[in-house]
Amino acid sequence: MFQHRDHLGIENGHLTIGGVDAVAMAEKFGTPLYVTDESRLRANYQRFQSAFPDADIYYAAKANYNLTILKILAQEGAGADVFSDGELFCALKAGISPDRMLFNGNSKTDAELEMAVREGVRVSVDSLDELRMLSKIAGVQGAEVEVAFRVNPDVSPKTHPKIATGLKTSKFGIPHAEVVSAYKEALALKNIKPVGIHCHIGSQILDVAPFAESARKMMELVERVNKIGVELKFVDLGGGLGVPYKPGEKAPSPSELADAILPIFEERTKSLGIAPKLILEPGRYIGADSTILLARVNTVKRAYKNFVGIDAGFNLLLRPVMYDAHHDIVVANKANQSPSDTYTVVGPICESGDVLASDRSLPKVEKGDLLAILDVGAYGFSMSSQYNGRPRCAEVLVCDGKAEIVRKRESYDDLLKNQVIPSRLKG
Ligand code: LLP
Repeated sequence: MFQHRDHLGIENGHLTIGGVDAVAMAEKFGTPLYVTDESRLRANYQRFQSAFPDADIYYAAKANYNLTILKILAQEGAGADVFSDGELFCALKAGISPDRMLFNGNSKTDAELEMAVREGVRVSVDSLDELRMLSKIAGVQGAEVEVAFRVNPDVSPKTHPKIATGLKTSKFGIPHAEVVSAYKEALALKNIKPVGIHCHIGSQILDVAPFAESARKMMELVERVNKIGVELKFVDLGGGLGVPYKPGEKAPSPSELADAILPIFEERTKSLGIAPKLILEPGRYIGADSTILLARVNTVKRAYKNFVGIDAGFNLLLRPVMYDAHHDIVVANKANQSPSDTYTVVGPICESGDVLASDRSLPKVEKGDLLAILDVGAYGFSMSSQYNGRPRCAEVLVCDGKAEIVRKRESYDDLLKNQVIPSRLKG
């Protein structure tokens, strides 16, 4: 048995998502298969927005930039945090308005900056080099570009080191102490209009205290840049709210996050007599639990451990390998059976590190069983690869009891797509 999640259920011993039988979907569409529940995605978004009724929510597209997902969130009113030209392209295709996006990134190409200016998207500037280049590019286009600075607030978010982004040692942002002089330079530059301030301290954060600490530091900066004449239209405090992946794990709710940071934001804006928009950039909270990954058991082997070999590995879900992340696993065709043994679930990739879950208590697992890996809607498919010559899998969306393909399974031809054989080697 697995921990309760509203949109997952059990019918006739089979796992269901959004009321649809996972075993039937695996038979119809094949495995591996990502399956997203549309109503859960919408509910997550609405829960976050209602905790921050006056804020703009810029969904972090990197969590999952499938067009259908972006379109659903656009319908809900989301803007987007985009971190590359490709994410910007997808967000525009999904109909998200350019004036509801922020172009983030610590190492943007000139072409990306040109695209942001051309499309009228605000830029979160990560360095003075970038600021100067952006001023030139905007000048060439005869445009004025609205910018924020990405602040490195030097706050420890108490999360996995690979996803802590606001430590003073981190590659992101402008050191806290140098931010005011960066605004001074921006005020003096042609074609640049500083209108915002931005930070993002990390991801999968399970305590509101670091958010409050960074909000305090950011609001002090708001006061200082206000004093030098910057008229701030927005304060963007980033994303990072964690979700409970492990049984018994507790994560703050969006309203707990709101209780921790809104008073800090409101008190300072009131005392300064300014009314910038608050922007937040959740990715994981919106997507994570909306999606499962279905994978077929190829082999069960009793060796050093009880290894269950499935048809998805770190090519399709990198998180366990990259961050030692825990994802709950359900034997989808035996969803009401009690655990009978301990299993280590491994993928088909030719690397010893390709372990998706270690020592899990599961019902008796046999060849042909279907495993569901839970909470993979953020940084799941979006971090996938074709490593080992494995075409990426399909994605399905479940809505009103129906399942529809939203991304086709790749073919062998997709492995060859864009490859060019020099003519001397042809024939
Ligand atoms: N804003 C910015 C500028 C970000 O860099 C990120 C995430 C977010 C918002 C959204 O953060 P979220 O609400 O999703 O925590 N691949 C990793 C997570 C990397 C997050 C990178 N930045 C993982 O699978 O855990």
